[in-house]
Amino acid sequence: MSRSAHPAGPRHADVLPEGHYSAPATDLNVLDEKVWSRTVTRDADGALTVGGIEVARLAQEFGTPAYFLDEADFRARCRAWSDAFGADADVFYAGKAFLSRAVVRWLTEEGLNLDVCSGGELTTALDAGMPAERIAFHGNNKTVAEIERAVEAGVGRIVLDSFQEIVRVAHIAQRLGTRQRVQIRVTVGVEAHTHEFIATAHEDQKFGIALAGGQAAEAVRRALTLDGLELVGIHSHIGSQIFDMAGFEVSARRVVQLLAEIRDEHGVELPEIDLGGGLGIAYTSDDDPREPHEIAKALGDIVTRECESAGLRTPRISVEPGRAIVGPTAFTLYEVGTIKPLEGLRTYVSVDGGMSDNIRTALYDAEYSVALVSRTSDAEPMLVRVVGKHCESGDIVVKDAFLPSDLAPGDLIAVPATGAYCRSMASNYNHALRPPVVAVRDGEARVIVRRETEEDLLRLDVG
Ligand code: LLP
Repeated sequence: MSRSAHPAGPRHADVLPEGHYSAPATDLNVLDEKVWSRTVTRDADGALTVGGIEVARLAQEFGTPAYFLDEADFRARCRAWSDAFGADADVFYAGKAFLSRAVVRWLTEEGLNLDVCSGGELTTALDAGMPAERIAFHGNNKTVAEIERAVEAGVGRIVLDSFQEIVRVAHIAQRLGTRQRVQIRVTVGVEAHTHEFIATAHEDQKFGIALAGGQAAEAVRRALTLDGLELVGIHSHIGSQIFDMAGFEVSARRVVQLLAEIRDEHGVELPEIDLGGGLGIAYTSDDDPREPHEIAKALGDIVTRECESAGLRTPRISVEPGRAIVGPTAFTLYEVGTIKPLEGLRTYVSVDGGMSDNIRTALYDAEYSVALVSRTSDAEPMLVRVVGKHCESGDIVVKDAFLPSDLAPGDLIAVPATGAYCRSMASNYNHALRPPVVAVRDGEARVIVRRETEEDLLRLDVG
């Protein structure tokens, strides 16, 4: 297996705009294992295989564009997270990253819990057999109907996001003759970005209730008086694609401080804290994500230490990784179409998908890698921008990358680390048909979300 490339200087330095992208691998045929799922390798002919199946065969059978999800890797990552956090903590997979009934079954089998944030995600989870008590229900604007369904189903917790919702959930639970387990989501004053965190402007957003100004303490006061609610903990989620644990540490410290204040004021020690998701993954060779056991240790240590100094019993910790579980487990396979060299700039490589199957580049300026996967090539690298087929110049999949200069229409290229927030944020822009998700494992491939058809489009368009 040829993996683990290390970036070196570009060979075509004369045509590169100045340094806002990763340098290419010296040998473009060598795959960097950081960004590919675990069963990805190259076979003797140079074609990429996943789960033991060649991409050319996958393309033939399932078409392109398509997402291929490495089931063994997904399951291994679930186990790594639950082993790292152990029996005294809970891992909730964040379904917004990617959810399907097959995924729910894998999660159920691997012992994970599930965070959902809409009625649709809740339905998918329940339909595929996730026990309701293992589901956490999130959202800043849950509808009354959604809350009713969640309470009736008996979800393990509802994460309350506003003062109005505290009352709303309490009334609904009381009307349904039950007491709903709830957490309160607080904003801790840490706004995390990719590599750093800044402590400004944090109250200026739609989620949660601010610790600042005593608002969270007031929310706790109200929740504790309402019969329909069983307040079990405090929740905090600080952002996305975070590598630095410092933001989580500040967040954990502030949540524990709130627990201590609650104990002092009400004589109640809340038994749970949830520190949210947001752990980063490698999209390119430059990214260095933490392993689950490092994250578990860092979070466990800080919570234990803070609780000891506050004289509190250590609460049960939970986390909600989405991207860190599913992100690295899938790649998107595209067929190369038009290739347009722009003299002195770069070569535009058009593929048969685009912003409809990966909006992250356009939306967040996200960086991705790309590789020629239907064959190897010894041609010189060329600087490319991989673009889609949509009527929009911002329709970019990979902003700056290198591909072999003998790339030709009909070649297959793949973008790794597209398991999270690609299919789940896919659209029908330009009436594109959303691609299928194909699970690959031990030499077998099966569609878990089928490709949309033109019939699907017309069915919604009722004339
Ligand atoms: N828990 C809560 C309360 C969240 O809001 C989120 C993500 C997660 C967990 C999972 O975060 P993860 O571990 O997957 O980073 N669409 C964006 C990310 C938005 C995430 C929103 N909430 C993206 O493509 O990067």
